Amino acid sequence: MAELAHDHSYPFALNRLSKPAGAEICGLDLTKPLDDVTRDALIIALLENHVLAIRDQDLTSDQQMAVTACFGKPETHVFHDATGSKGPKVHTVNNLDRDGKPSRRPMTFGSFFWHTDKSYHEIPSFATFLHARELPPEGGDTEFANMYLAYDALDNEMKEKISDLRAFHSWEANRRNTGNDPATEEEKKVRPPVVHPIVRTHPDTGLKTIYVGIHTDSIEGMDREEGVDLLKQLYRHATQRQFVYTHQWKPGDLVIWDNRCLLHRVLGNYEMDKHRRILHRSVVIGTKPE
Ligand SMILES: [Fe+2]
Repeated sequence: MAELAHDHSYPFALNRLSKPAGAEICGLDLTKPLDDVTRDALIIALLENHVLAIRDQDLTSDQQMAVTACFGKPETHVFHDATGSKGPKVHTVNNLDRDGKPSRRPMTFGSFFWHTDKSYHEIPSFATFLHARELPPEGGDTEFANMYLAYDALDNEMKEKISDLRAFHSWEANRRNTGNDPATEEEKKVRPPVVHPIVRTHPDTGLKTIYVGIHTDSIEGMDREEGVDLLKQLYRHATQRQFVYTHQWKPGDLVIWDNRCLLHRVLGNYEMDKHRRILHRSVVIGTKPE
């Protein structure tokens, strides 16, 4: 991992977009191979800004995968799209129903709830890459909540209370908490619950974050109801507006975010049954939360 720079002399133009998170980067052409200097600068920019919007890209799936692989080991996906086929490493995120039509109730809607990617895995995601291919005229924003700020804003009593607690995260909880169809017995077997610390130390910055979300189920060693209440309290605290950056997509955006210090969700603030919203997604795997 690149060293944190003490100056901000990036080899590209970077503008911070909001106080909690987000920076736009202009003047890069990612269809060309990334040189090491630019790659290292992008990683530092990601650690400092948490969300990067690299403007005006037009990438094939192979080109997007090449950029993704510069940040680490790509995650594989077993994903069923509208045609029922298993997706490659770059897959499509969309608002289409089973017939391929724009819909208010697309095939999956877990992303409308605050979460951090794959926290129901032993080794969750580090960075997610979303490349805008088709966008509604307006809306369909993605919100990001900064978990460094959320942790810092807790009072000392709460910091002490949660310092050694661990929460169960599971696909089953995801399905239940989002109102999706319940997880099947097969899915529960393939994706058993995992346990992660509620206070996570970011592996690159060494700073503490709150690590909860819609995939959390209960707290280890705590009465279930009490644990659920505490998780709800933390979820509400962590997603207050002062911690949130709202990304308003532009055509060609390649947005990269750091799942280790953010929660995110998509907004259905557009005519979902009228306009297509299609993005290409790829992911770099992270490390076991500690
Ligand atoms: Fe997500």
